[in-house]
Amino acid sequence: MNPRLETLHAVEASCWQELQRAVKARDHGWRQVVLATVGEAGADARTVVLRDVEVPSRELFFYSDSRAAKVTELVADPRATLVLWAGHLGWQLRLRCTVEVLTSGLDVSSRWARLKLTPAARDYLSPLPPGAPLTPSEPDRASREHFCVLRARVLSLDWLELHPDGHRRARFTAGSEPPWQWLSP
Ligand SMILES: Cc1cc2nc3c(=O)[nH]c(=O)nc-3n(C[C@H](O)[C@H](O)[C@H](O)COP(=O)(O)O)c2cc1C
Repeated sequence: MNPRLETLHAVEASCWQELQRAVKARDHGWRQVVLATVGEAGADARTVVLRDVEVPSRELFFYSDSRAAKVTELVADPRATLVLWAGHLGWQLRLRCTVEVLTSGLDVSSRWARLKLTPAARDYLSPLPPGAPLTPSEPDRASREHFCVLRARVLSLDWLELHPDGHRRARFTAGSEPPWQWLSP
């Protein structure tokens, strides 16, 4: 286990460094993120893959099908919570965010240009929206892609460290003074 971080500043820097690592490292626990949204019937949640991190603007990027239920939910209410767990660090992150759905522009076209050359492109080419009932007569190819990018701006970050010497918790809230605070776990 790594030496324990002593300062809130070090905790914040390490969280963002680990998020950047998770984009590249397939076995990093933070690569697979639980995205919770507000649906008409109440809370909803599902797993998505972390694709990109912009540290200066505190933004995380995910890919989805623009017809998915989560996209409809986020357009109606952009509030979301992301939950991440990395067993090798013993760290849980709970990120409160607002999420913007991007369906056009450079952020989308540059990523689709790379993705469409890979087998993963078929995830965004289905003729049926995600969650639609399957029937035998459906066509098996889409006429166009339904790729979209979800841009999550982190408003607050709740860090929980599980450790044999004692658990620790801290929260960062954008715009508050001071932005970081140690909390009882
Ligand atoms: C390991 C894993 C990774 C996933 N990654 C994504 C993803 O990056 N984007 C996505 O839209 N769905 C992803 N899914 C599928 C979603 O969890 C979900 O089943 C699907 O998007 C439909 O969700 P919705 O009806 O809430 O929109 C993933 C599922 C698993 C199990």
